[in-house]
Amino acid sequence: MSIMAMPLNAASNRTVAVGKPSFMGKSVMRKSATAGRQSVRFAVRAAGYEAELVKTAKTIASPGRGILAIDESSATCGLRLSSIGLENNEPNRQLYRQLLLETPGLGEYISGAILFEETLYQSTTAGKKMVDVLAEQKIVAGIKVDKGLVPLPGSNNESWCQGLDGLASRTAAYYKQGARFAKWRTVVSIPNGPSELAVQEAAWGLARYAAICQDNGLVPIVEPEVLLDGAHSIERTQAVAEKVWATTMFHLAQNHVLFEGILLKPSMVTPGNEHGQKATPEQIASATLAMLRRTVPPAVPGIMFLSGGQSEVEATLNLNAMNQSPNPWHVSFSYARALQNSVLKAWQGRPENVEAAQKALLIRAKANSLAQLGLYSAEGEAEEAKKGMFVKGYTY
Ligand code: 13P
Repeated sequence: MSIMAMPLNAASNRTVAVGKPSFMGKSVMRKSATAGRQSVRFAVRAAGYEAELVKTAKTIASPGRGILAIDESSATCGLRLSSIGLENNEPNRQLYRQLLLETPGLGEYISGAILFEETLYQSTTAGKKMVDVLAEQKIVAGIKVDKGLVPLPGSNNESWCQGLDGLASRTAAYYKQGARFAKWRTVVSIPNGPSELAVQEAAWGLARYAAICQDNGLVPIVEPEVLLDGAHSIERTQAVAEKVWATTMFHLAQNHVLFEGILLKPSMVTPGNEHGQKATPEQIASATLAMLRRTVPPAVPGIMFLSGGQSEVEATLNLNAMNQSPNPWHVSFSYARALQNSVLKAWQGRPENVEAAQKALLIRAKANSLAQLGLYSAEGEAEEAKKGMFVKGYTY
């Protein structure tokens, strides 16, 4: 994306108007409020992909559907596999991912799947490309594009997210391979601050990433994860989340990101995981929606929550509570742990358990689909699905 600011004419302090005002077109002209002065700039947005981005985002944010996140880096996928005693190697990661993506009927509840690069270029053991498996299920392929978190010098032991270098060419290649949306996860820690520096850095990185993705035809999922770690209250989480989202939306606008062609992936507003008291789904829904209404314009098509270490049932109940009355955006899920936990337990790495594992995935996907529609009840849920999945210092 190129943003060209017309320089002010030093002598007259004027610029010449070039370009026509346009809502989603190639040029945006702004007139200064100061009489007799015009400042003009024009920005090329999304390199001609605008209509496709809007369509992709709407498809993902369609009623009763949400995202299956299976974009764990190879190291994090290893944690999933080791939880059932499997070695972390490519054949095992392939078996696991194909089990998930080939689940019959998955596309009814799942509109998008976020993949790690290995999976985007991988085939099933039968030789079918994973992207073709998704296309047959009418599931949009997504790709994790960030390069992970590293310490942020000058902060209070906080981190920042790498991956902007070379992102334009990587996203162009991912588009060619069939990806139509992307994910970039950065984190904000409440116990460690968050410092102004960490919040600004997180928001700016997300905005640069989003602009680059749109320029290459990928809908960016914007994910500044406010971590669950800590003993803070729900009010404190809400205040931090409001600050983080307001800053992020500001920088997205500064980078001329098309709001109709993005998706957001917030954490739900809950008390810290070491806070003595748990909040009810109604309290969580009320704090989360208040935070979002204050910071996110209705032009954004979809809010796709992460599960963040909540149990499967908790994540579904909280989503259901948020859909008890109409929202300005599609409010849905983009869960990893809260969709995969029961599946792993059912599978145990055994071929004879594949069907049972796929059934477990379908149960969770359907439950969250109902929650997206505000129609879920936890009656009859397995005890296992009620167990929390919080891991301290969790990375992707
Ligand atoms: P969880 O739902 O496990 O928090 O996943 C977060 C995520 O960013 C997956 O893409």
